[in-house]
Amino acid sequence: MTIQESATMDALLAARDRYVARGIATAPIVVARAEGAKVWDVDGQEYLDFVGGIGCQNVGHNAPGVVEALHAQVDDYLHQCFVISAYEPFIDVCRRLAELSPCRGAEQKSILLNSGAEAVENAVKIARTATGRPAVVVFDRAFHGRTLLAMTMTSKVNPYKKGFGPFAPEVYRAPAPYPYRGISTETAAAGLEYLFKAEVDPETVACVVLEPVQGEGGFIPMPAPFLERVRAICDAHSILYVDDEIQTGMGRTGPVWAINHVDVEPDLIVGGKSLGGGLPLTSVTGRAELMDSVHSSGLGGTFIGNPLSCVAAQAVLAEVVTDEFRARADGVASQLETALAALAARVDAVGETRGLGAMRAIELVLDRETKTPAPGLAAATVDIARGKGLLLMTSGVHSNVIRILVPLVVAADDLARGMEILEESIEQAAAQRA
Ligand SMILES: Cc1ncc(COP(=O)(O)O)c(C=O)c1O
Repeated sequence: MTIQESATMDALLAARDRYVARGIATAPIVVARAEGAKVWDVDGQEYLDFVGGIGCQNVGHNAPGVVEALHAQVDDYLHQCFVISAYEPFIDVCRRLAELSPCRGAEQKSILLNSGAEAVENAVKIARTATGRPAVVVFDRAFHGRTLLAMTMTSKVNPYKKGFGPFAPEVYRAPAPYPYRGISTETAAAGLEYLFKAEVDPETVACVVLEPVQGEGGFIPMPAPFLERVRAICDAHSILYVDDEIQTGMGRTGPVWAINHVDVEPDLIVGGKSLGGGLPLTSVTGRAELMDSVHSSGLGGTFIGNPLSCVAAQAVLAEVVTDEFRARADGVASQLETALAALAARVDAVGETRGLGAMRAIELVLDRETKTPAPGLAAATVDIARGKGLLLMTSGVHSNVIRILVPLVVAADDLARGMEILEESIEQAAAQRA
């Protein structure tokens, strides 16, 4: 088999099975083109994209500003390695991140990286040098990435941790609120306090890392009082608060950062996904005193803040602060909220719809009373929807949550059509399984 012979989707998928490692799971679709909130496969089939490369396309596939910036940069230079020679787009992205930072402190600095996992690990490195402490506290249902420390910080065994131990030391886990399943802010905050009595001395904790809306964990917004309690508990023990906004940032919930919804200032913020407009770029931002606690050359990497990723981010950062973008994000959020509430009223398998802004999801259950998770129904819904031209993805520890990360440029009638397909697909999946 040669790839040249593999023009059709079936042939390409066969080649994918032959040559690509099995450990990377892909849906049976091979994309040829993408624009806005739509993608087309190599056989010419059109799909509405409610996934956006897992939240990387808030400004839309091939956003004109991003594409234009990339074309201009391609003719100048592609790679320098910022460690060897600096370049303006890297510095400018750090300047914009400083201006937009929700973190404590007047003077903000950043480091740019390639992946979210790498950014989370760098945030921990910075927190450790700034505090001189080793331990890290994370939460139930957290997702922070797939590298050793980030994987340890992540909470779902299969597929993220199964067979991959031993894990990194000095990572401790506390409960997080999940109102639908009876875990309140009070219970979770008490759990964090208990962790400091039973498992780890808070004086050895460098940082607490928390997603303001748990993403992979099931699109669970952390209630504002919980974020306030976490901030207060961190302050009581001189622990740094790291806000992981890799999935929630860049306007996904309306404002640039989800933490902007509440009156809480973290110490460090981690960004990624949509920051690069489809190119790999992530960030760690915080006050200069923390960021500069690391010795010279202690942070770095060959491809960190690649020039192409940085010019794409300049275009993204220029767009997500505009009133027009915000109005669009809020419009998508309210259309989704209304449509999901209507869907939940009609479809018995929907246990809860929830989210923040345009980061929304439905949790599917076998029974509304027992709330037994329905992962098989969720998987079947995703498959059926793909056949009807809608791309969806699950999340949650039980993989029974269907998450929506539609590019925020989606047209209102496309969004409405996508919601119809979603409902039809759940009903069909439920009928097949009955
Ligand atoms: C909250 C959060 N943190 C970290 C990561 C890891 O990012 P990456 O896959 O770019 O390593 C993700 C990815 O989904 C995420 O959602």
